[in-house]
Amino acid sequence: MPQPIRIGIIGAGGIARSAHIPSYQSYGQDVEVIAVANHNKDKAVECAEEFSIPHAYEDEQQMLEEQELDAVSICTPNKFHASQAIAALQAGCHVLCEKPPAMTVEEVEKMTLEAEKVGKFLTYGFHFRFQPEVETLKKYIDGHELGEIYAAQTHYNRRRGIPGWGVFTNKELQGGGTLIDNGVHMLDTALYLMGYPEPKTVLGATYQKIGQRPGVGLMGEWDYENFSVEDMARGMITFENGSSLMFESTFAANVEELSSKKVSVIGDEGGADLFPLKIFQEKYDTLVDTTPAYVEKRDANEYLIHDFIECILHNKQPLSSPSEGVRIQQIIQALYESAKTGEAVNIN
Ligand SMILES: NC(=O)c1ccc[n+]([C@@H]2O[C@H](COP(=O)([O-])OP(=O)(O)OC[C@H]3O[C@@H](n4cnc5c(N)ncnc54)[C@H](O)[C@@H]3O)[C@@H](O)[C@H]2O)c1
Repeated sequence: MPQPIRIGIIGAGGIARSAHIPSYQSYGQDVEVIAVANHNKDKAVECAEEFSIPHAYEDEQQMLEEQELDAVSICTPNKFHASQAIAALQAGCHVLCEKPPAMTVEEVEKMTLEAEKVGKFLTYGFHFRFQPEVETLKKYIDGHELGEIYAAQTHYNRRRGIPGWGVFTNKELQGGGTLIDNGVHMLDTALYLMGYPEPKTVLGATYQKIGQRPGVGLMGEWDYENFSVEDMARGMITFENGSSLMFESTFAANVEELSSKKVSVIGDEGGADLFPLKIFQEKYDTLVDTTPAYVEKRDANEYLIHDFIECILHNKQPLSSPSEGVRIQQIIQALYESAKTGEAVNIN
């Protein structure tokens, strides 16, 4: 691997500027952000100036052809993830694609096949896996302290947290709302802790009850006139190994807390809640709860991006794998389909 690792960014918006570019740049001299592409050239130029990036492009294909890049971050709306990830892989780059993986299972399978074909890494922006409490709980699970995990539940609810910026409420560009924006982080965290079992059946329900009218915007004033996604998603997933998962997420709902997120996993030797971490066990003829005395404060996005670099430098597989990308997209797609038909969807 020639030094430094040459990075390209596709999409010069919120997540690129707040997480990807600063995290690559904070890694040190082994990494250089060489170029940024945005379909609105002015945004690309403005971003390049702000972060002292040498090259700005309107067309990502031109960037991929002209710059010898080692890796690319895909930071565009979900509609463009698949085509841009595939183009970057074909240009010989490792790819870190923002979540959710793409719009459909078919797209994610194509991305996966391309990564296998060219022998490059394809990974996703599931940064909650790098939260210290998630890492600790994973160690407990891998150390068999909870036994067999057979049930889990998760929610990521906001009372009035519809994003007032970007395209998060645009179904055509994003493919959905709360399920694939905030909810998908908790879904991935639960699946990761369960060992990403193979999904069997998905029953889902989605609602659009609040987003299409004006209201108290705790994440800015949302565009209620063009709100075309779900503001609540719920589901139950069963897995081939017999385990099951209950899911809920909201952009907006009439609930007490302004924002709350939780993952609970239940095993036959112990259970645990996350955010905050608490472990429940039966030991020495009594019931005990364990909580960490100290939780490190960290920027999980920065950890994810630094880990991506380490994987490239040391040729090790990133934490979030292409096959997991396919599995989570299968669940997302089945949940939306089930919500539409009212019937449970069998996967496979
Ligand atoms: N990991 C996280 O916690 C997290 C947080 C926010 C967003 N995201 C994900 O990141 C992605 C981008 O979200 P964002 O908040 O940065 O959105 P954003 O709207 O702030 O930025 C997207 C950028 O992409 C540009 N763009 C749009 N279409 C393009 C195209 N075809 N080619 C090139 N550029 C194009 C836009 O002009 C904009 O600059 C989404 O997939 C979103 O789900 C992840």
